[in-house]
Amino acid sequence: MEPRKIIEDSEHYLMHTYNRFPVVLRKGRGMKVWGADGKEYLDFLGGIAVNVLGHCHPKVVIAIQKQAQRIIHVSNFYHIEPQIKLARLLVMNSFADKVFFCNSGAEANEAAIKLARKYSREHYGSERYEIITALKSFHGRTLAALTATGQEKFQQGFEPLVPGFKHVPFNDIRALESAITGKTCAVLLEPIQGEGGVIFPSDDYLARVRELCDRHSLLLMLDEVQTGMGRTGKLFAYEHYNMTPDIMTLAKGLGGGFPIGALLATDKVAAVFKPGSHASTFGGNPLACAAAIATLETILEDGFVLEHCNRIGAYFRERLTQLKEYHDQIVDIRGKGLFIGMEITRDGMPIVNACLERGVLINCTGGGNVLRFVPPLIVEEKEIDVLVELLEELLGRSL
Ligand SMILES: Cc1ncc(COP(=O)(O)O)c(C=O)c1O
Repeated sequence: MEPRKIIEDSEHYLMHTYNRFPVVLRKGRGMKVWGADGKEYLDFLGGIAVNVLGHCHPKVVIAIQKQAQRIIHVSNFYHIEPQIKLARLLVMNSFADKVFFCNSGAEANEAAIKLARKYSREHYGSERYEIITALKSFHGRTLAALTATGQEKFQQGFEPLVPGFKHVPFNDIRALESAITGKTCAVLLEPIQGEGGVIFPSDDYLARVRELCDRHSLLLMLDEVQTGMGRTGKLFAYEHYNMTPDIMTLAKGLGGGFPIGALLATDKVAAVFKPGSHASTFGGNPLACAAAIATLETILEDGFVLEHCNRIGAYFRERLTQLKEYHDQIVDIRGKGLFIGMEITRDGMPIVNACLERGVLINCTGGGNVLRFVPPLIVEEKEIDVLVELLEELLGRSL
């Protein structure tokens, strides 16, 4: 089909929940994607932090092909070999003892919220159900995840929201402490805020949150949907911060592009989920798990991916920091690994559009003035150079 016709049909048949760029992406390999018109793009958005190994990584493609030939879907009424293998891999490489699989980040957070409520009810009674989350956080679009999200713009029009959530400023331990009452059961945080504008906590914040949670017998839940799977140079972002959570959620990069989400927890917490407590028809589907196993094994294989992510991430930030010296529109460069934000003094959309025009995919977040770079973890220096040179040119122009 002609790209113009695809776009016309898209407007006609799809609900208008996205402001899409007028581009139809049809093929991808590594850092590159191609439009239906043949135009080539460097993908610094990576499906919004999803394509951790790049597009169509051979190991992921082969794993999906092989699994599709064997069996695509069976019910969770039966034991599913790839699901168990994936759970084992996640447990062996994290703080967690048990895993529940679902299909997206919002679903994983929804499951985490249910788990925290059930745990608290069983241990402390029915009056202790409140969850504290951070302002500027993002946890997804289902109703409880949306309520947990600390940004009113996503919630407007969907009231009444779910009762039992409180928001406090991120990285403010005093604010968190004063928000705790006899009703609080858990704290839910992104270790580094993504949609809020790539916002980092101070080095000791999460460890102090851990102490606070221990002191008040609260569960600490980390939403690693965006930061997990090697994005920050460690498999999980909490590993940077000298602490472990009780519950963690994953999605985005977990399947290397194939939809899958996961809820991870310690044995003690997971024990309150019994048959019937929670479920998902597709959660832990053999095909999704095969893709995730291939992704995780490739990341863990010989340490190369994480080492590369750290080295190349440092190069990327250094190049952007050099750019900052000459452009006073750049307020801040922040990042860990390949989770990088560039805060500017103006609206980022004209820059995003101009990059698209010139064959580079990026996006902006955090109120529109933070350019976010979350490329595949296999991005090379020469590709970073292309982006940085383009940014240099665009920042020098009045767009
Ligand atoms: C930190 C975080 N949590 C949850 C979500 C929601 O994930 P999904 O879109 O897969 O439901 C996102 C998506 O951007 C996210 O960044």
